[in-house]
Amino acid sequence: MNRNDFIKRTLLGAAGAAALNQPFRAFAASRKPAADELGNFEPIENVRIGVIGVGNRGGSLLKQVLRLENCQVTGVCDLIEARVERGQRWVIEAGQDKPKGYSRGEHDYRRMYEDGNCDLILVMTPWEWHGPMCIDSMKAGIHCATEVPGVQTIDECWELVELSEKTGKHCMLLENYCYTREIMTVYNLIQKGLFGDPLHIYAGYQKEALYYNFNADGSLSFAGEGVIDHWGNVYASHFAGPSAQWLGINRGDAFDYLVSMGVSGKSYQVYAERFFGDDHPFAKNPPKMADVSNTMIATKNGKSLSLIHDTRLPRPTRHYFRLQATNGIYENIEERVHIGDHSPGDWSVPRGLVDQKTGERSKGDYSRREWEPISNYYEEYQHIDWKEKGDMAATSGHGGGDFMMLYRLVKSMNRGDYPDIDVYDLGSWSCILETSEDSARNRSKAVDLPDFTRGKWKDRKPLATYFA
Ligand SMILES: NC(=O)c1ccc[n+]([C@@H]2O[C@H](COP(=O)([O-])OP(=O)(O)OC[C@H]3O[C@@H](n4cnc5c(N)ncnc54)[C@H](O)[C@@H]3O)[C@@H](O)[C@H]2O)c1
Repeated sequence: MNRNDFIKRTLLGAAGAAALNQPFRAFAASRKPAADELGNFEPIENVRIGVIGVGNRGGSLLKQVLRLENCQVTGVCDLIEARVERGQRWVIEAGQDKPKGYSRGEHDYRRMYEDGNCDLILVMTPWEWHGPMCIDSMKAGIHCATEVPGVQTIDECWELVELSEKTGKHCMLLENYCYTREIMTVYNLIQKGLFGDPLHIYAGYQKEALYYNFNADGSLSFAGEGVIDHWGNVYASHFAGPSAQWLGINRGDAFDYLVSMGVSGKSYQVYAERFFGDDHPFAKNPPKMADVSNTMIATKNGKSLSLIHDTRLPRPTRHYFRLQATNGIYENIEERVHIGDHSPGDWSVPRGLVDQKTGERSKGDYSRREWEPISNYYEEYQHIDWKEKGDMAATSGHGGGDFMMLYRLVKSMNRGDYPDIDVYDLGSWSCILETSEDSARNRSKAVDLPDFTRGKWKDRKPLATYFA
């Protein structure tokens, strides 16, 4: 399905939408599994990984995979043979056996599945392939994890959920933004109760990235094709993901509905005229689409999340996370928090209460709050993996999230732990694309968000393994 079909479909509202290691298994059995419908991983001592799409992102993640222990790359697939060969060379240079290469066309990845040499597939291809490659992976009995923003349609989300439940294979999202030291510390602070109840999150993907939508000759890249004519949030998971984890989405709470609004600054036209000339099709006939998308999501428990997507207008990069909770606030820009009864101050006296007789105002600290660096909480509250592997993670991209995400994924498979991000999360974060599009094109009408857990969110517990 191409973008235009997708948009039409959105508008019309049509289309229904290994080798097992006994000691590891015993070890896993002795641990308390999370209460999930999907099972934990079968523990795998040495995870055999097949990678599909070794372009910019795939190449960079492949290098991180090669720094991990207890796994090996057994298959490399890309349309471009030279990229497969480059990937194979990197694997050999890392001291592993030469993995099999696959580059005989866009469905050659299936040959890798059929060969049966992989326990886990990493999908790092353009967007339209994420869904089909994950679907085929689970049908072949292989776990899979796809790059962001996940899959493109609600139908695909449901198909993945049903397949994952049926096959017992996990389908995960490679959402690296969930794995920085700071984001994981905030999650832990929430889980440990310091913040009280998280109420509202403002989260903005805010960087000028129009270059990603064009090729050097002025044609559209896959990302450009993917977003053309869209008015909703086309790349939600970087900011929906961590927010959803903080809010306990699919684990005690669930996304309920959203409203979305897009505004156009004609960025494509301006960019095309400037860099590709007046004859570029967009110079004469610019696409009608949003440059800034603003989506508000309400949860079943009455929380809210404001998601901004702002990647086309002139601006320095300034991603934003602000969590307001009943007992404190976190802000990523200055890497700071204020936590009631923990941050410095005397909270026994309220500030500013007027004595009706004297007219004096009380001078306590309550309501005169000060920020403190979140790093004050690292020693006690950062994730144990950051304590142990922080130095290795720090040299990888996206604030160390790239390494930590893959490290946690392989570790969970080695140990047989439930994955941090499962198919329900993938569905909940991916479906913002289609639903926000529907809302933004219809005067910001409220659009219900699917519950991929089918009600199980009420009883699902926070992941114990997240802290392990
Ligand atoms: N998580 C992040 O921070 C982050 C950052 C950048 C990109 N991404 C995501 O990574 C993915 C890839 O982006 P990119 O910038 O690396 O793109 P890219 O064009 O550099 O690489 C994509 C690769 O996939 C290959 N490919 C395409 N169709 C294929 C098929 N059918 N079979 C096998 N190989 C195929 C291409 O030949 C290419 O080498 C996208 O989903 C993007 O959204 C994520």
